[in-house]
Amino acid sequence: MSTQTIRPTKALRDDHVVVLDKLSTLGKAVKDLGSRDAARFHEEKGTIADILAFLEQDVELHLKKEEVGLFPALEAIMGRGGGPVGVMLMEHEDLRAKIAELRNYLNEDSGADVKQGTLAGIEGSASYICSLLTQHIYKEDHILLPMSEQMLSPEAMQEIADKFGELDKKSR
Ligand SMILES: [Fe+2]
Repeated sequence: MSTQTIRPTKALRDDHVVVLDKLSTLGKAVKDLGSRDAARFHEEKGTIADILAFLEQDVELHLKKEEVGLFPALEAIMGRGGGPVGVMLMEHEDLRAKIAELRNYLNEDSGADVKQGTLAGIEGSASYICSLLTQHIYKEDHILLPMSEQMLSPEAMQEIADKFGELDKKSR
């Protein structure tokens, strides 16, 4: 089913379920990495790299959908500024910075002699991403999306769904 034929808020909620599942895998893969040896890291590296690619591509597309589709529709009703949309936007930027940081740490690994500082960096940025994104999704699922479903007209919802469809097409 394409995003055009389902409510866009439902599409975002469905994405959240997938993201939370990946975050739980990432959390387990990086746990105690800073105090472990390089061999243990290399066992987990494939998992961490896969989830990082998911964050850079799938989660980035999800953030764009919210920024291009949902948030402007909410701001048209509530106005711009420090409201819930402002908080969500700040958290998106925080998240992107940490994803880039995790990418840098992961790229520092060039083989068997990965530094303990690199391992601690990977653990630190991945743990930050897990906790930030988990609580961000909680706020969206329990506050922002219910509010959107109450406030937005069927026409506004359709416009959002169309924008999601365009972004999906561009990402293919
Ligand atoms: Fe979201």
